[in-house]
Amino acid sequence: MSYSNIIVTTENRITTIKINREKSLNALNEKTIDELYDCIESISKSEDIKVVVITGVGNKSFIAGADITMFEGKSPASIRTIILKLQDTLNKLEDLTIPVIASINGFCLGGGLELAMACDLRIASEKAIVGQPEIKLGLIPGAGGTQRLTRLVGAGRAKEMIFFGNNVDAESAKSYGLINWVASPEELEEETLKIASRLAKGPSFALNMAKEAINRGPEISLLDAIRMEAELFALCFSHEDVKEGVDAFLNKRKPNFS
Ligand code: HXC
Repeated sequence: MSYSNIIVTTENRITTIKINREKSLNALNEKTIDELYDCIESISKSEDIKVVVITGVGNKSFIAGADITMFEGKSPASIRTIILKLQDTLNKLEDLTIPVIASINGFCLGGGLELAMACDLRIASEKAIVGQPEIKLGLIPGAGGTQRLTRLVGAGRAKEMIFFGNNVDAESAKSYGLINWVASPEELEEETLKIASRLAKGPSFALNMAKEAINRGPEISLLDAIRMEAELFALCFSHEDVKEGVDAFLNKRKPNFS
C-alpha cells in the first residue's frame, strides 16, 4: 500500500511515522486510519525494526483528534465501523513487541491523545497541548481514552479531563504521569532520537518481555501477573542477551546486545 497521509522513514532501525495532514492539524480521517493500520501491520512483521516513533508533520500539531468533518451526517452504525477500525489500529500499535514513542509536537487531542496513550512512552514539546475535548462535541472518547487515560492517570483525573474537556499543557500532563519527558520545541526531535537510539541499542528480547508483563498484568489478578512475570523472567534466560549483559557486568565493560 502506498501512503499519502502518513510519511514513513527508517534509519538505524528506528522507524518514524509522521501524520501528514498539516492543514487539518494532522486530524485522523478514514484514509489516515487505514494507512496507519497497514503500516503498523507491516512493522509487526518486520524483524529489522527496533523502535517506532510517531509524530506529526509541522510544528503546530501532533494529532488534533479524529477529523471532525467525518462525523457529519453519519449513522451510529457507520461511526461504529470507523471507531472499531481506529481501536483495532491502536490495539495493534500497543501490541507491537518493540518500544513505541509518541513525540508530541503540538496539539494532542481526542484521538491524538488516545493514539499517544497506546504508545509506550511519550515525550512532548513545551508547547504541546493535551486533552480529551470530545465532551464539547457531545461525545465521549471512543478510541480507548476512557480506559487508557484512567489507567495512566487514575479515575479522578481522567474524569476531570473527560467531563470538562479542558486541555492541559505539557508540564501539567507530565505532573499527571501522562507525559514522560518535556523538551523545548527546538530540541524535541533530537531528544526523541536520543531516547529511540538508546532503546534500539537495548536488549530487544528483554524489552519485549518487560512490555508484555506491564501490558498484560492489569488484565489478570496480581498473583497471576506476578507469576507471569516469573515466567517471562525465566524466558529471558533463553536469550543470548542475558549472557552478554551478565558477562559485561562481571568484566566491567559495556554490553553489546544482539
Ligand atoms: C478536522 C480540524 C480538527 C479536527 C483542527 N482542524 N482540528 N479539522 N478535525 N479534529 C482544522 C480546522 O478546522 C482548521 O481548518 C485548521 O485545522 C486549523 O485549525 P484552527 O481551529 O483554525 O486552529 P487553532 O485556532 O489554532 O485551534 C487549534 C485547535 C482547534 C484548538 C486544535 O482546531 C480545535 O479545537 N480542534 C478540534 C479538536 C478536537 O475537538 N479534537 C477531538 C475530535 S473528536 P480550516 O479549513 O478552517 O483552516 C475525537 C474522537 C476520537 O478525536 C475517536 C473518533 C473516531
